Amino acid sequence: MTMDLFDGASTLEAQEQLAPGAMLLRGFAVTDERELLGALAEVIAQAPFRHMVTPGGFRMSVGMSNCGALGWITDESGYRYGPIDPLSGQPWPALPEVFLRLAAQAAERAGFSRFVPDACLINRYEPGSRLSLHQDKNERDFGEPIVSVSLGLPAVFLFGGSRRSLPPRRIGLMHGDVVVWGGPARLSYHGVLPLKEGFHSLVGAQRLNLTLRKAG
Ligand code: SIN
Ligand code: FE2
Repeated sequence: MTMDLFDGASTLEAQEQLAPGAMLLRGFAVTDERELLGALAEVIAQAPFRHMVTPGGFRMSVGMSNCGALGWITDESGYRYGPIDPLSGQPWPALPEVFLRLAAQAAERAGFSRFVPDACLINRYEPGSRLSLHQDKNERDFGEPIVSVSLGLPAVFLFGGSRRSLPPRRIGLMHGDVVVWGGPARLSYHGVLPLKEGFHSLVGAQRLNLTLRKAG
């Protein structure tokens, strides 16, 4: 087998359609890992991770922060996007260039051109943290896709259909994997099973996830 053929085959395997409109891009963010983590550290220095409370009064096990013109928040009064970090009273930190570029490139690869997000939810999973099945539906326009970037420890991602009753697929997401869902898959239910203990050489004993969206 020539090197060219081998490279071609591994490139094909690196990308998998999960459903019409939903694509898993294996390792898509790996070459940007250091730039992403550096920019992320600067964001978190200004807007630290915090455990938000659901409208039902439950403390989320996932630590969260945001960057971009809008940030996703939850508290006793509901789920919404807002321009101000309630913790600091200041606007959320700006979306780093590398986040914008990666989001546009991943969306393009999945068939969504000219994606310009204005919001990035940053999730920090520690061992035991989980995210129950939900739809991303607080955004104004469902015509734009969601781009989700995984960094650090592996996790089992649940990806279902547009109704909660449809059994979700279980997908192992690794450091550098990117999932894009939009179009007919835009309102797919998704979640994350409890994170297992482990240690990642660059990210440590945690998983970080960036969810880039056009919210406003
Ligand atoms: C989310 O749905 O907000 C994040 C999903 C993930 O962590 O992979
Ligand atoms: Fe989500």
